[in-house]
Amino acid sequence: MTVLASERTALFIFFGGTGDLAYRKLYPSMFNLYKKGTLREHFAVLGTSRNKLTDAQFQEAVRKSLGTTKTDKEAEKFISHFAYEAHDVTDQAHYSVLKDRANELDKKFELQGNRIFYLSLAPSFFGVVAGYLKSEGLTDSEGFNRLVIEKPFGRDYDSAEKLNDALSKSFEEEQIFRIDHYLGKEMIQNIEAVRFGNTLVESLWNNRYIDNIQVTLSEKLGVEERASYYDNSGALRDMVQNHIMQIVSLLAMEQPVSFTDVDIRAEKVKALRSLRVYNVAEASTNFVRGQYGAGDEQRAYRDEDNVPHDSTNETFVAGKLLFDNYRWSGTPFYIRTGKMLADKFTRVDVVFKKPLIDIFSFPQNHNAPLEANVLTMYIEPHAGFSLRLNAKTNGQGFQTAPIDLDYFVDDADSKATPEPYERLIHDAMKGDGTNFSSWQEVSYAWRFVDQIRKVWDLQQPQFPNYTPGSMGPASADELIQRDHRQWVYRLNK
Ligand code: BG6
Repeated sequence: MTVLASERTALFIFFGGTGDLAYRKLYPSMFNLYKKGTLREHFAVLGTSRNKLTDAQFQEAVRKSLGTTKTDKEAEKFISHFAYEAHDVTDQAHYSVLKDRANELDKKFELQGNRIFYLSLAPSFFGVVAGYLKSEGLTDSEGFNRLVIEKPFGRDYDSAEKLNDALSKSFEEEQIFRIDHYLGKEMIQNIEAVRFGNTLVESLWNNRYIDNIQVTLSEKLGVEERASYYDNSGALRDMVQNHIMQIVSLLAMEQPVSFTDVDIRAEKVKALRSLRVYNVAEASTNFVRGQYGAGDEQRAYRDEDNVPHDSTNETFVAGKLLFDNYRWSGTPFYIRTGKMLADKFTRVDVVFKKPLIDIFSFPQNHNAPLEANVLTMYIEPHAGFSLRLNAKTNGQGFQTAPIDLDYFVDDADSKATPEPYERLIHDAMKGDGTNFSSWQEVSYAWRFVDQIRKVWDLQQPQFPNYTPGSMGPASADELIQRDHRQWVYRLNK
């Protein structure tokens, strides 16, 4: 057989293969990989779910998800690699049918026994599926066997540990790829490039020069159709435990020995280990939560479909994180995320310390005090950077004012940027775990978050406490103002 150098060979078995994620993200991302030549002749997809579909019906659904028609030759070739098997994940005996189908596809497309089991299912089934994949021999093929799983990975440390124990009976840690789609985002990956590729940045990247770091993941939408999941999760579990902790660990970590998954993960874990796990008093002071009320044309969270009228679930979180290590001691990381906020954006603002002495603000000069330098990383929707410096204003006299050095990724490059799932599927095929969460990262993140949750569960919040279209409750501003600081991004500034 001939396999092109850029081509990857694998059989994907999707559990939850007719789900929303599969149709909306996974199959279109795979099609992009196909068009780029990463997937070509030697790949196949076996979709499974409880739904009874024929191969042809499944292929039709995939075609619809790609938005193509039968006249599109390239799409049709891609779709011809898709097969389907109705399967109940708890039915142990039926795994032998999957195995036969897998072997058949392996032979037909010459897949070298490489298998990726992709679990896009309710997490309560993760352990069961992993167990049967092994006991029923699906992992006995001679190539690689990898397990890709969607979040949430547990709902606290104990449940995550149980889940991990269950998975590790069948798969080694290096075979498990825990998706955090934020790690597939272009600009999140740029954090490492900007930090470790620039003397200018990395030499100042510590508590001597950085006053504070702010991470904002702001969403404009509400819970949409996901209320039954979200009301049992809340912003702390849904966004902080995973996405925010991952971003923070990339910002806080030391330089890895090499740019490989093993070394990068080791540094992220080390950073998370030095994150201060709060006691009750610290958790109450350093974290605040919110829930949106009604707006002009928006109903309150408690009035959304499938949300109980007395729900105390948080749709907003802001907090202060402290690292007890040499690099960061005394430099807080402020984080915030929420639904129904002013806009959809993700950004990191690194606020440097002001010069110790301001020689321009002497009485005769009437110069406004110097502002802090700020390095902003715009993650989404417009990817880019901005560096705020103080400079002299034009003209007589000597007045200073902040100026911004901006760089934004242009439209053509933005369009060509791979979707997070495209990148992550590619990485899983390569066996590169850099952009996936390791068990240790997940476990330290839960230990931190559990403490906040524990304290909150004992207190009755005063909800609702923010209006749609705002940047969250007043307590989020108070949290940072108490430290004589401000959010860099704020409305009406
Ligand atoms: C998901 C959360 O992990 O991330 C959602 O479950 C959230 O609640 C989403 O809306 C945000 O992702 P993105 O890529 O749109 O910022």
